Amino acid sequence: MNCVGHIVHGMWVHPDNQRHRFNELSFWTELAQLLEYGTLDGIFLADVIGVYDRYRGSADTAIREAVQIPSNDPLLLIPAMAAVTRHLGFGVTFSTSYEPPFAFARRMSTLDHLTAGRVGWNIVTSYLPNAARNFGQDDELPHDARYEIADEYADVLYKLWEGSWDDDAVVADRQGRIYTDPARVRAIDHVGAHFQVAGPHLCAPSPQRTPVLFQASGSPAGLEFAARHAEVLFIGGRTQASVRANIVRTRARLVAHKREPDAIKFVVMAGIITGRTDVEVADKLAGYRRLVSAEGALAHALTALDLTLYPRDLTIAALIARGEPDAATLLRRFTSEQSVGEALDWAGSLHEDRFFVAGTPDVVADQIEIWLDEDGIDGINLRQYLSFETVRDFIELVVPELRRRGRFRTSYTDGETLRERLFGAPRARLPSTHFAARYRDPAMLRAPAERLSFG
Ligand SMILES: Cc1cc2nc3c(=O)[nH]c(=O)nc-3n(C[C@H](O)[C@H](O)[C@H](O)COP(=O)(O)O)c2cc1C
Repeated sequence: MNCVGHIVHGMWVHPDNQRHRFNELSFWTELAQLLEYGTLDGIFLADVIGVYDRYRGSADTAIREAVQIPSNDPLLLIPAMAAVTRHLGFGVTFSTSYEPPFAFARRMSTLDHLTAGRVGWNIVTSYLPNAARNFGQDDELPHDARYEIADEYADVLYKLWEGSWDDDAVVADRQGRIYTDPARVRAIDHVGAHFQVAGPHLCAPSPQRTPVLFQASGSPAGLEFAARHAEVLFIGGRTQASVRANIVRTRARLVAHKREPDAIKFVVMAGIITGRTDVEVADKLAGYRRLVSAEGALAHALTALDLTLYPRDLTIAALIARGEPDAATLLRRFTSEQSVGEALDWAGSLHEDRFFVAGTPDVVADQIEIWLDEDGIDGINLRQYLSFETVRDFIELVVPELRRRGRFRTSYTDGETLRERLFGAPRARLPSTHFAARYRDPAMLRAPAERLSFG
């Protein structure tokens, strides 16, 4: 995230952490070059558009602890990072809830052109009530209603990206003095419940047209949205069985949406701490654990409740049953059987869950192979503790071990788009089975809307 503290709060005080340099272009260009040296698929940029202001009834904790504030716009980093790399992919987050789709369609097409097809969009509906108040609303919309809006938002984008321009619209005929053939560019005339967009799209078709579509979901509405739209899905799960069940459930919904069962790549956020020896690993682990900010984690958890005021053995279910204000929000992060003590321990920890491993490179590689082969995931999103130490350790120590095992590329393929990297060439564009592909037939721009509905 284009900020100091993204997921593991408190780490900014570590003397080796460079995150305070996030306002400097050189921080991002150095990072991009490091990632490309390591032949990683890409960099994932998260984003929120509000402040975490619920904990103890104010934003003070988030502001003091740098919990995703200060934070800058992630989209604007991409051209700089693209200029110093040739292959690195970029997954960038943008919310469907507050800004209408036309300008965003244009920004993403611009980025897809400038990066030669290396961008992806992480579709989020935003979960911060403060974000709603920043964009003229009194409070956030109900969860499922946000996914319904997101569905129309994506539909508008697909019309612009896939349907508004033919591939051969730009003829650039100097002698005939025709830059673009008007017969091959069309308005979309979208009129829906939430958006009205005339078109045409202002950008000529970019290498991927629609950027690679990322999403993260756990809820039934979110998963249904993913089954229609997503190509890369961040999932979680406390046990191997629940991860596998999540994947099986999503694949079944993909088939219901007439997509191939392998049309989505499943990715988990993984915490990896490694070093050359067990002693080095233990030292890093202890050092990181010492710095973790429980206060920061609680502010990030979106709860207004100050858990330190309750008995440790009380369960979340009991807190809710007692009618403690805002207790139900804890279910976003914890299960109802977990206790106040467990929640506080989690807040003060490095979130050492199923997708966490601390060990020498062979131990880490063994664990990654289990996640891939037994949990059934396709890839990992590496949680940052220290920038650049976390990713440098991964590239210097774990990548060579994974390469020895035939689990990691040794070089990039020249000229491939992000979609081709993830799904194989030649596949720069969405497959014909994706919902968006309907708009390659201009007649479909006038077809009745087919909306997801969770009412
Ligand atoms: C790896 C990962 C990255 C996420 N990135 C963002 C983000 O950048 N911005 C955001 O508002 N939400 C982000 N989320 C939250 C999701 O958009 C979503 O709210 C969450 O997964 C809950 O899904 P649900 O609404 O279907 O229950 C992320 C979630 C995960 C797991």
